[in-house]
Amino acid sequence: MQVNIQDNPVIDFLQNRRSVLARNMRTPGPDRDTLEIILSIGARVPDHGKLTPWRFVVIEGDDCAKLGDIAAMGLAERGEEPDMIAAARAQFLRAPCVVAVLACPRVHPKIPRSEQIYSAGAACMLLTAAAQAAGFAAQWLTGSAAYDTAIRARLGGGPDDEIAGFIYIGTRTEEPAERTRPPLDDIAVFALPETSAE
Ligand SMILES: Cc1cc2nc3c(=O)[nH]c(=O)nc-3n(C[C@H](O)[C@H](O)[C@H](O)COP(=O)(O)O)c2cc1C
Repeated sequence: MQVNIQDNPVIDFLQNRRSVLARNMRTPGPDRDTLEIILSIGARVPDHGKLTPWRFVVIEGDDCAKLGDIAAMGLAERGEEPDMIAAARAQFLRAPCVVAVLACPRVHPKIPRSEQIYSAGAACMLLTAAAQAAGFAAQWLTGSAAYDTAIRARLGGGPDDEIAGFIYIGTRTEEPAERTRPPLDDIAVFALPETSAE
């Protein structure tokens, strides 16, 4: 079926949206009402078995410095270089708003952990896209903080949880350049691929 997608603003947005580097963000971030809409859209993702295997923790204001201090402490304990420690301390200060997305998979007889982690990844992407659609700069980042057990605990995550990402949200200081995308021929086929068995 041929569908007319000319002049469709949603298709246009999806074809052109880009992330903005966190270092190219400044205030303001979204206000509380706008943030609640962005978070609600982030929760509107496929979720096999309705397990809601994700949580959102909004980091703003003093919490950005507090979380950075924990990240810096972790790197210092591991003997990292002072410039790495300083960067870790300042990381959450780059944007006025950071949403930490925790993947909180449950043990389930039919729904594997991997599917619940994918759902958390989908929530990260939809949060990012929702913030961008609202006109904000947004970027999905992880870095070593995402694998720091003290950070995870401070966000309320347990030992079986994972930090799926930190979604940085702010106002862009410059427009991002287009990023090269893989040619469709490299990543998609329109029929079952040939195998040596046939
Ligand atoms: C799970 C995940 C983690 C990422 N972590 C980082 C990161 O730590 N540092 C970084 O520079 N980019 C990271 N990126 C890539 C950024 O999100 C990057 O801005 C993105 O690839 C730009 O894509 P877009 O313009 O299509 O939105 C990560 C991406 C994903 C999916």
